[in-house]
Amino acid sequence: NGKIVTLAIESSCDETAAAVLLEGRQILSNIISSQIDIHKQYGGVVPEIASRHHLNNINAVVDMAVDEAGITVDEVDMIGVTYGPGLVGALLIGLATAKAYAFAVGKPLIGIHHIHGHICANYIEHKDLRPPFTALVISGGHTNIVEVTDYNECRILGGTRDDAAGEAYDKVARVLGLGYPGGPLIDRLSKKGDPHAVEFKRVFLEKDSFDFSFSGIKTGVLNYINSEKQAGRDIDTANVAASFQAAVLDVIVAKTMRAAVDMNKDKIVLAGGVASNSRLREMMKAECDKKGIKLYYPSPVLCTDNAAMIGCAAYYKYMAGQRDDLTLDAIPNLPL
Ligand code: KG4
Ligand code: ZN
Repeated sequence: NGKIVTLAIESSCDETAAAVLLEGRQILSNIISSQIDIHKQYGGVVPEIASRHHLNNINAVVDMAVDEAGITVDEVDMIGVTYGPGLVGALLIGLATAKAYAFAVGKPLIGIHHIHGHICANYIEHKDLRPPFTALVISGGHTNIVEVTDYNECRILGGTRDDAAGEAYDKVARVLGLGYPGGPLIDRLSKKGDPHAVEFKRVFLEKDSFDFSFSGIKTGVLNYINSEKQAGRDIDTANVAASFQAAVLDVIVAKTMRAAVDMNKDKIVLAGGVASNSRLREMMKAECDKKGIKLYYPSPVLCTDNAAMIGCAAYYKYMAGQRDDLTLDAIPNLPL
């Protein structure tokens, strides 16, 4: 029917995912096989185990995506795939699969940067959204403020110098004995706590910096818990969770707002797993309303890792003429 059909594959961390999109922004299928329950027992993602599960699941996941979309693979115009950043063994499984399909059907392969994919999830969710805008990409592996000037053009303004925001949530959740992944658990528990109960340090770094540092807050929480225990006092986990979250979000929100204002942007886009955090959304909404900035974020299923977002990014690369070939390699620390 002349419409562009994209098959996309994502396997950079612990989700094996495939999706089919029509015209880049319409989802025909979006299959996500999560390994969270497997990695839970280790308290985090174990790379070697992730690779093995990707290998076991990828063919079935792609078959499901194609079936559910009601197409055959020959109807696909291109294959988009994440080639970095991520776990190298995990990336390689998705990449090898994408190459096999591209070769078999004789259609182009388009390599996608995982962070660019996260941002593009918003184009699927919000049909009216157009660049330029400021994006905040926060997940278990990344914390970046990105200036998005066009569909295929973006520039990182700042990033984390140590732990990612999601990583900080996960580590603090472990210290509090909450479980994995910790983000959603802290999100929920914080609603019952007082964010002013404990004053954890807000780390803003240099005055003009858009960078973050979250490794100190984990130690801060640990020290607080130890000193309370030593003093024989009970720990109110809801208060600690809420106070930790307030310290992290105060910095994230302030820097994101400053980036948008400095760069004259009237739109802010949230992306990545932590973008589903309810308090972050509330705080960003309040600040954006004050400044007349429009706020966008995807529904939770498009915040965490998925292949639909990769397919959307691939569509815009394809339209701009990008073509990759079978020499495309996985790059674990791929720059944006
Ligand atoms: O985007 P994602 O699925 O994977 C990466 O690319 O890293 O993000 C997963 C991260 C985990 O650290 C998880 O704890 C965090 O996102 N997360 C949240 C929430 N939901 C997921 N963090 C805070 N609040 C949430 N509601
Ligand atoms: Zn991700």
